Amino acid sequence: MRNVTFGYTPGRDVIRGIDLDVAPGETVAVVGSSGAGKSTLAALLAGVRTPDSGAIRFGGVDIGDVPETARAQRITLVTQEVHVFAGSLRDDLALANPTADDATMEAALRTVLAGDWFDLLPDGLDTVVGDAGHQLTPMQAQQLALARLVLADPPMVILDEATADAGSAALATRACRSRGARRTQRPRRRTPLGADPRCGPNSVDGERDGGRRGHARAVDRA
Ligand SMILES: Nc1ncnc2c1ncn2[C@@H]1O[C@H](COP(=O)(O)OP(=O)(O)OP(=O)(O)O)[C@@H](O)[C@H]1O
Ligand SMILES: [Mg+2]
Repeated sequence: MRNVTFGYTPGRDVIRGIDLDVAPGETVAVVGSSGAGKSTLAALLAGVRTPDSGAIRFGGVDIGDVPETARAQRITLVTQEVHVFAGSLRDDLALANPTADDATMEAALRTVLAGDWFDLLPDGLDTVVGDAGHQLTPMQAQQLALARLVLADPPMVILDEATADAGSAALATRACRSRGARRTQRPRRRTPLGADPRCGPNSVDGERDGGRRGHARAVDRA
């Protein structure tokens, strides 16, 4: 991300002049107060929003030039608002990886600690979930989203408070570590999960983390 500026309305920048480098294998935590622009930054990185100026590249290619389906295979953004798709649990998980067999799906559910409730489902992976079927709690729905993440195994993951309902940021760590792939996390609080908190003088809201001051700036709203 190079010198990225973005605002939802003209003349009101939410993100201004941000540089961010994430190397393969690196985990980065972005922290800041509410409204500072963390989710906006996540949406820009995922290609959901387009910068007003500046560049966002993934593997050297401008993400605006990558077709949506190809982008979705490379970058997964998981937010607090997750969707349970109508159909069986198997159908839901197959969205992430159509070739995954039952054992792989069950392993993914256990990785994100969904094994306890999965074992109680009347029809296992055939159980119809969602509005028309077995209702999942917000926590279970979020675990399901994380299980899809494990199955999809994309090169880059952006978690935007994706564990708020799942109850534990450690769950995201499990999901990501199981992949053994490159990953980017954005935990809600200042719990770096072993991540590198990019909070130098130009951090999201100017606060300084106790970590690596003066590191490459991530967000600058000044
Ligand atoms: N869709 C939108 N349209 C207009 N303004 C928006 C939109 N989404 C966010 N904003 C504004 O952009 C600014 C940054 O919001 P953002 O959601 O990125 O902050 P955040 O750091 O993720 O906050 P939180 O910690 O509460 O999730 C805020 O002033 C917010 O009101
Ligand atoms: Mg947010």
